[in-house]
Amino acid sequence: MTDPAKLHQLSERYYLPVYRPHRIVLDRGQGSRVWDSVGREYVDFGAGIAVNALGHAHPALIAALTAQAEKLWHTSNVFVSAPPLKLAQALVDAAGFAEQVFFCNSGAEANEAAIKLARQWAAAQGRAPGSRVILTFRGGFHGRTLATVTATAQPKYQAGFEPLPGGFRYSDFNDLEAAEAAMAAGDVCAVLIEPIQGEGGVTPASDTFLHGLRALCDRHGALLMLDEIQCGMGRTGTLFACDGYGVRPDVVTLAKALGAGFPIGAMLVGPAAVGAMGFGQHGSTFGGNPLAAAVALVALREISSPAVLANVARQAQALRAGLDEINRELGVFGEIRGRGLMIGAQLQPARSGEAGTVLERCLEHGLLLLQAGPDVLRFVPALNIGDDDVAEGLQRLRAALQVHVAAPRGDAP
Ligand SMILES: Cc1ncc(COP(=O)(O)O)c(C=O)c1O
Repeated sequence: MTDPAKLHQLSERYYLPVYRPHRIVLDRGQGSRVWDSVGREYVDFGAGIAVNALGHAHPALIAALTAQAEKLWHTSNVFVSAPPLKLAQALVDAAGFAEQVFFCNSGAEANEAAIKLARQWAAAQGRAPGSRVILTFRGGFHGRTLATVTATAQPKYQAGFEPLPGGFRYSDFNDLEAAEAAMAAGDVCAVLIEPIQGEGGVTPASDTFLHGLRALCDRHGALLMLDEIQCGMGRTGTLFACDGYGVRPDVVTLAKALGAGFPIGAMLVGPAAVGAMGFGQHGSTFGGNPLAAAVALVALREISSPAVLANVARQAQALRAGLDEINRELGVFGEIRGRGLMIGAQLQPARSGEAGTVLERCLEHGLLLLQAGPDVLRFVPALNIGDDDVAEGLQRLRAALQVHVAAPRGDAP
């Protein structure tokens, strides 16, 4: 059952067609290399959309998962168990800004929890429903549930799902004056923002903007909630992206790399909002599942190690230098931006809309890469990627782009 054509036929027959997967079928991985079902090898610059932070088949993660698998798989939250408690304690200790943790299974669920927490927090202060507005930013991405897709201020994700839940307001990213105006009425109870927008184009918040939002939240009695689902867990070179900004949040949401490939999400809650949620006000059957927590605890230890964080800085530099060099030869990129190993290369305006085709060409040259919208190539490799993998991936990218540049416009592989 590994014939790619057959598997694609089956996926077209049995899956709700909300995805359009690539034609290859991935079969196994090791570190930052992956092999498809016909044995072709790829360098992995996408890490399962910024999830496999320690690459594929990391021995310490396998050991943690298998040890827990032999012990206890699931308890539900009717019981406490050691793995999620150890993880909660380790996250609180590592974060510095948080006192409590809520576990769930995905990024959208973590943001959903944050939205609900902010509303309860405001309600407990006697603020009327009309004064429990959550401010988010255009170009952001917060998930696909109805509330998180409403928080996602991008019409393409919302169209057709109306009526959307109320109580959200949108402002322009990196425009502090606009945020100030959006909060002037005093009816905003929380600001939810990605410190570095991922899906929306790999765009970092400016220092002034994030610090300014902190000050606005303090002035207006609102929670600063950071969605670090994509940019957190070491991706930018510090364990939390907010550490790199020197901004202290009230709430941080995590998922993706938290379980390094095993599904888990978390909401970290700081002192301002502790106590906002009481018994029975939220929950998740699988949240804090022992298997996920056992893996995430080891992932956290590895990711926060000085060696891995130093590697993020080292490989980020190597990737950027390589992209600059490719650009000197081929002139395909405009701005190259991001932080740490979360890098976006904007295609030149003349090549707008071509990111998808470039990705296909990369596949043909043995490279897994992502896009962030139609105009940006997104690089989010494993945080422990080695020198050779970065060099080889860049070499394959160059070859793919050489073909792309030489091909007639509109031509696709
Ligand atoms: C910043 C951010 N928030 C939330 C999500 C949603 O996470 P999930 O797909 O696990 O629900 C994503 C996923 O891409 C994300 O990048």
